[in-house]
Amino acid sequence: MTAEYKVHGSVAVITLANPPVNGLGLSTRQGIVDGLNRANVDAAVTSIVITGAGGAFSGGADIKEFGTDKSLQEPNLHSVIAAVENSPKPVVAAIHSVCMGGGLELALGCHYRIAAPGCSVALPEVKLGILPGAGGTQRLPRVVGVEAALNMIVSGEPVKSELIGSMPGQKLFDKLVASPEVLAAEALAFAQSVADVRPLPLVRNLPCKHPQGDAYFQFARNMVKGMSKNFPAPAKCVDAVEAATKRKFADGLLFERELFINLMWTPESRSLRHLFLAERAASKIPDVPSDTPKRDIQAVAVIGAGTMGGGIAMNFLNAGVPVKMLEMKQEALDRGIATIRKNYEAQVKKGKLKQDKYEQRMALLSTTLSYDELNDADLVIEAVFEEIGVKEAVFKELDRVMKPGAILASNTSTLDVNKIAHFTKRPQEVVGLHFFSPANVMKLLEVVRGDATAKDVLATVMATAKKIKKTAVVSGVCDGFIGNRMIEQYGRQGGFLLDEGCTPEQVDKAMEKFGMAMGPFRMGDLAGNDIGWAIRKRRYTEKPDMKYSKTADLLCEKGRFGQKTGAGWYDYVPGKRDAIPNAEVVKMIEDHRASLGITPRKISDEEIVQRLVFSLVNEAAHILEEGIANKASDIDVVYIFGYGFPVYRGGPLNYANEVGLFNVVQAMNRFARNPLDDAAFWKPAPLLARLAAEGKAFN
Ligand code: 3HC
Ligand code: NAI
Repeated sequence: MTAEYKVHGSVAVITLANPPVNGLGLSTRQGIVDGLNRANVDAAVTSIVITGAGGAFSGGADIKEFGTDKSLQEPNLHSVIAAVENSPKPVVAAIHSVCMGGGLELALGCHYRIAAPGCSVALPEVKLGILPGAGGTQRLPRVVGVEAALNMIVSGEPVKSELIGSMPGQKLFDKLVASPEVLAAEALAFAQSVADVRPLPLVRNLPCKHPQGDAYFQFARNMVKGMSKNFPAPAKCVDAVEAATKRKFADGLLFERELFINLMWTPESRSLRHLFLAERAASKIPDVPSDTPKRDIQAVAVIGAGTMGGGIAMNFLNAGVPVKMLEMKQEALDRGIATIRKNYEAQVKKGKLKQDKYEQRMALLSTTLSYDELNDADLVIEAVFEEIGVKEAVFKELDRVMKPGAILASNTSTLDVNKIAHFTKRPQEVVGLHFFSPANVMKLLEVVRGDATAKDVLATVMATAKKIKKTAVVSGVCDGFIGNRMIEQYGRQGGFLLDEGCTPEQVDKAMEKFGMAMGPFRMGDLAGNDIGWAIRKRRYTEKPDMKYSKTADLLCEKGRFGQKTGAGWYDYVPGKRDAIPNAEVVKMIEDHRASLGITPRKISDEEIVQRLVFSLVNEAAHILEEGIANKASDIDVVYIFGYGFPVYRGGPLNYANEVGLFNVVQAMNRFARNPLDDAAFWKPAPLLARLAAEGKAFN
């Protein structure tokens, strides 16, 4: 049982004890009901306290149980809350640290609530694509008012207990104690003080009205329109809260339950729940236990003050960690610092950063031209030119000057981290830290684990990633690591589609309709088409049998590298990012197609999406099989946080699961029969073929 029961004098205390956040899983729910039953038959007990052990009152329903039999078994959360409400002895919720979702709903079912300051109070279900399903939409408006409640339910954002406690007329908390330390004692005293008060107060009996009901809910619906585009839950939250104001409590509760169950079955909710767990699972490395000792990272050095070096440095400055930047020439340092300043000043101008914070951050930044001045850094990140010779020279210098135990990282996007590690005499201290551009904005960090990388180095960089607010995913060493290795296949398919009859605009529009932040050609223009060109030139000698469309090379031969040259697949007006289709590019594609003797055909959006997305899926299956990625969900995290894959589709592998792997393989077999495509590539990766044959999914 994951709830403890103890009697202190005349007060029974039920303590939720289901780490890490006292999720209301089956055994905790059962524990609460058992505790109530024991207390209610014990004549010596006159009141009951429910509280949480450790760092939470409760984080809500146990997300890990969703979709399993346990989530359906009695007592469900409704029955638990009914047992609390129906208890003949008063039940007091003693709330601290975290009170969210079903946890808050449980507290709202209690007769009284007493809270410690600093507690995060929320109904965050909307972030999981659902709505509060155990009375939250019906009870919260009754204690904090309709508008405040709807705001909390639609945003899912936490509000501090002391802030709610200071709202005039609020009935959520009967008492706010001075500090978390005194909560337990105060809860016992409070429970004793209300032991004889009858009738027992119930939130459900409080009135729920909005003076301008119809108008207000119309405004609310307009407000959530934007956020509802790809997510059904926010609009349903409005419906549920409106029901609280218009229906009898019991009817409202039933209505909420129906909406909750319907939302739970939507692919959007499944994707969001998958992503919640995937993001947290990404930080776990199978053979690196969470208690692996971590090194102290007090100071960081960055080599190279170019596009990436500057952004990387900002991450650490933002987290209060001093950074020393090294360059070859003073001018390069000056340029790098000026870019960082410009970035911060833009944030100050937009009101996103306070002037004094900006100055504090800049004060943490120092520069040098000499490697000998780097010896106090605990972590050094190299972001110099992508040439193995340059990396070799830099890592030999770092090996010479860095103190023992310092971590040596490379931001290389394509080079072999094992090779880089062996430029030093300490390959165990070397790791890849592949930031994405702009490095101060993009959340993804691929941590590239070399053959020799020490476990504590990995544990340390994963913890450091968290500190600088990155979502880190571990990748093994291979060309392109996880993300770029997959995107190469996606890009190849984009090229074939042009040869077969599409325009860049048609492909981009189809992918953007599917939900990608940007279609492949707009993305190429943003990243720089010359990067892909350099990779392809390498491939032509390394893998002469690999098939590529030549259109992207023809584009680059015209110097159309993308936004940075004002022209790529599209044209760009200086200072703007709008992609303007260019007739010459379309003609170039048509001429090339004609030179290949291809008669263009009409290609559906469905085919475009399937070919691009399933190319990611097949390569991902190879990546999983080779052990480059530890788990399927890591790949989804890479694509959501690094490549603009739509959140509501949960990543390419979650999407493939939704489509059904059997269907994915069928489509791939179809694509393999297209003589203009690459039949060898479309042979399903053995892992994918096996899962599809067994009727299974990636997990
Ligand atoms: N159920 C199960 N596990 C949960 C959980 C939950 N509700 N909430 C968090 N966890 C787990 C995480 O998976 C993670 O586990 P791990 O250590 O094994 O990876 C651990 O708790 C810590 O989570 P975080 O890394 O997110 O830690 P933080 O300290 O940053 O945040 C938190 C803690 C604020 C509780 C945050 O985890 C959070 O926002 N959780 C989601 C809460 C939520 O959405 N609750 C609603 C659930 S749905 C519901 O209640 C339905 C009801 O209306 C019927
Ligand atoms: P950049 O050309 O903007 O900057 C490189 C900087 O390194 C220049 O300022 C240069 O003066 C400096 N430099 C070169 N040799 C040096 C040396 N020996 N010692 C000190 N400084 C030296 O390049 P960018 O784009 O910042 O790329 C850097 C690294 O990051 C490369 O390995 C690249 O592959 C990788 N990367 C780049 C991404 C991007 O989108 N630009 C994304 C992810 C990784």
